[in-house]
Amino acid sequence: MNKERKLIIAGNWKMNKTVAESLDLVNGLKRELASVKEVDIVVCPPFTALGEVSKAILDSNIRLGAQNMSEHNFGAYTGEVAAGMLKEFSVRYVILGHSERRQYQGEPDALIARKATAAHAASLRPIICVGETLAQREAGEMEKIVGTQLRGSLVGLSEEQMIETIVAYEPVWAIGTGRNATAAQAQEVHAFIRKELATAYGESVARRVRIQYGGSVKPSNARELMNQPDVDGALVGGAALEVRSFSEIIKNSI
Ligand code: PGA
Repeated sequence: MNKERKLIIAGNWKMNKTVAESLDLVNGLKRELASVKEVDIVVCPPFTALGEVSKAILDSNIRLGAQNMSEHNFGAYTGEVAAGMLKEFSVRYVILGHSERRQYQGEPDALIARKATAAHAASLRPIICVGETLAQREAGEMEKIVGTQLRGSLVGLSEEQMIETIVAYEPVWAIGTGRNATAAQAQEVHAFIRKELATAYGESVARRVRIQYGGSVKPSNARELMNQPDVDGALVGGAALEVRSFSEIIKNSI
């Protein structure tokens, strides 16, 4: 597949996998995906498995991501993890503002923006998630919601930082439901996001930003989704928990 931007496909393992299970998964992925050069491959295990997974993927084409981080660098923030601590495990990416954190931890856009700034300061690339609920889509509010989340979560980022930021469009109604957005629906929102980025940062920056689709991505729908001109990768939840389905998603996307 000839894409304008290199595809980036990331597995968000969420709160799944012990250390032993994480190693099984990542060692299987290493075997299956060793020859893949066309796609940036990222795995995002839980914090507790980052150290071991980091060692296991040394000298491989798989990169490491975290699922969240603190906006602060250190100090009295019980239960939080700082960017610098992630860097100790050679983490390169960090998911920020996933809808589950927006919903269950009440994370607002302004906090996500501060985390994104802290991530860049530590040379971590944020994967910033945005997406509307079904009720919001049905009320005709998709653009309003996605646009507001996007602008609010990017406050303070420079052009250079924006180019190194990944946006993930994850419609909440498609996450873990088995009901993915159609390729046309995804393309429509991705084009809207790129237009918003162009308004804020200019065309040439917007053209370089990679926008992932997330929400029930599986081997059977990956190719059609990745074929869309403004879809530059995927953020995969459930199907990233098994060697076979995650590697098939990547192979089907090439
Ligand atoms: P899903 O999750 O692939 O299980 O729908 C995607 C995500 O939440 O990142």
